[in-house]
Amino acid sequence: PLVALVLAGGTGTRLYPASRADRPKQFLSLVGDDSLLAETADRVDFADRTFVSTRPAFADEISDHAPDADVLTEPVAKDTGPALVYATHRIREEVGDCVVLVVPSDHTVSDLGSGDEAAAGGGHFESVAQTGARVAAETGALVTFGVDPSRAETGYGYVEPGEGRSLDGETYFDLAAFHEKPDAETAAEYVDAGYYWNAGIFAWTPESLLAAARDSPLAPLVDALETDDGSRGFDDVPEVSIDYAVMERADHAAVVPAAFEWDDLGSWDALERVLEADADGNVALGDALTVDAEDNVVASDDKHVSLVGVSELAVVAWDDRVLVIPKEDAQRVREVVSRLKAEG
Ligand code: GDD
Ligand code: MG
Repeated sequence: PLVALVLAGGTGTRLYPASRADRPKQFLSLVGDDSLLAETADRVDFADRTFVSTRPAFADEISDHAPDADVLTEPVAKDTGPALVYATHRIREEVGDCVVLVVPSDHTVSDLGSGDEAAAGGGHFESVAQTGARVAAETGALVTFGVDPSRAETGYGYVEPGEGRSLDGETYFDLAAFHEKPDAETAAEYVDAGYYWNAGIFAWTPESLLAAARDSPLAPLVDALETDDGSRGFDDVPEVSIDYAVMERADHAAVVPAAFEWDDLGSWDALERVLEADADGNVALGDALTVDAEDNVVASDDKHVSLVGVSELAVVAWDDRVLVIPKEDAQRVREVVSRLKAEG
């Protein structure tokens, strides 16, 4: 069987102040009527079963957004590395042999269908996902999905394709190397060298993922889960994403090209790629008035925001908070959130 595993335990730090500790981005309806999590659960409805992986604080809210999914709550939130080892182990116990398709809940994907023409063009989400699942089942590789980069983004992982291969007429590549979130200069080199963006979507069999995790900083958790003492295992592993912990050191991995329309709504600059701009290049989520202002991103809940004579900013007014930041520094919102956390 094909099991979808939706990741929904992140705090969405870089979308502060819309995303807050008790209301992370996956529960917000940012670009459509439904929450990002509800849209994600719909996107994987072709799977035989769907699980949602989350941290304890969000467990109760998941069913409001994904009522048909089973919820897997890791005992301690330590990023996607521990969360995915835990969830994959639980799925192996409950379902047995299967392919797990991991899907983050902060993406927009606009061509969803399947069908022959779609499969031939590598375009649609479902056909690409099914190809990845077949590669994972038949080769035992950890499968990533590679998006053609359109800029030197520092918020993504990069995948270096190796030898080209074919399965049932679909092309995929051995994964030569995986590099999580490079600096700007290195990202530009990767784009020039023809690397893919890691879409953050993965396909693997439980055996393959747990074997790779045994060879990583997550090994103590795998051992503890297998001897039935999962909670103890969480104390012995670092807080680390699957990308750094497992993918960067994986020696049997593959990449399936993913040509579907895809974006990660990770930071405020993403809005300019998914919303329609006005004649001056401004995009707005909510009410905004711009005078002599160009290429800004505005987002607000019920506030009316005016910008005069400024350009290239992200301006966000949400609840009782306001954020103003150069658009190109949108990743630095993290620094605000760590300061706020430190100050309690
Ligand atoms: N269960 C659980 N527990 N889920 C979590 C946790 C956790 O502790 N932390 C994050 N998540 C969920 C988030 O809710 C999100 O859906 C998903 O895991 C990915 O986390 P992000 O924090 O959004 O990761 P990223 O966007 O910085 O980077 C990843 O995705 C990029 C593409 O979107 C990496 O895989 C990159 O390599 C990739 O390019
Ligand atoms: Mg993300």
